[in-house]
Amino acid sequence: MSETPVYVLECRDLSKSYRQGPQRLLVLDNVNLQLRQAEHLAIVGRSGSGKSTLLHLLGGLTDSDQGTVLVNGINLTAASASERAKIRNQKIGFVYQFHHLLPEFSALENVAMPLLLGNMERRFAYNRAEKMLESVGLLSRASHRQAELSGGERQRVAIARALVTRPALVLADEPTGNLDSESAEQVFQLMRALSQQHRTAFIVVTHDESMANTMHRSLRLVDGKFSDQSS
Ligand SMILES: Nc1ncnc2c1ncn2[C@@H]1O[C@H](COP(=O)(O)OP(=O)(O)O)[C@@H](O)[C@H]1O
Ligand SMILES: [Mg+2]
Repeated sequence: MSETPVYVLECRDLSKSYRQGPQRLLVLDNVNLQLRQAEHLAIVGRSGSGKSTLLHLLGGLTDSDQGTVLVNGINLTAASASERAKIRNQKIGFVYQFHHLLPEFSALENVAMPLLLGNMERRFAYNRAEKMLESVGLLSRASHRQAELSGGERQRVAIARALVTRPALVLADEPTGNLDSESAEQVFQLMRALSQQHRTAFIVVTHDESMANTMHRSLRLVDGKFSDQSS
């Protein structure tokens, strides 16, 4: 019996261009990618090489010109807006360079938010959010708002928020770009440990080559394509 492997994430012939006045800027040129369960992939590349654009497409936040994105075998490209939102909420976690925590809410409330948005009952959501905050070492900061957290702590809260729904995949766009090297290393260690524990796949865009080398695989975007492949 032959079985087609279902990747956590797969994109096929993904292309994206932006219109700039009369010209078109081709940012991604037929990109293909397959990510296995619990795999850690780094994406590196110069500023402007299309890394953020690719993550947005993979997360279903932007439309491509051409190509398909499949999350757990489900075609995100063909899904309706509401189906897409559901897949995003249930299957994918996002971490950004600038954490994007909601400033008026506490760390705990921020972590519980994706569960509440997914209609989980409050007491279950807060219970799970507490456990997640504990696993990033920040239970003692549960009631702190972002202004009362350090940069590294904010990113750890953002990681807890990304993982709280137990997604199959986390997409992180330069999550340590704004941190000193010690906090950055701590954040990377945490991502690796938690993804192993939860069997979560990770794609991390990073400028930091040494961090990229700690992942299972590292791909470089050059001229809209992956230039090298090492595993
Ligand atoms: N919304 C947009 N409209 C037009 N051009 C854009 C837009 N977003 C990004 N770009 C351009 O696309 C290229 C890739 O951008 P981006 O994906 O942000 O690169 P990276 O994250 O690797 O720095 C850049 O040249 C950028 O100026
Ligand atoms: Mg970027």
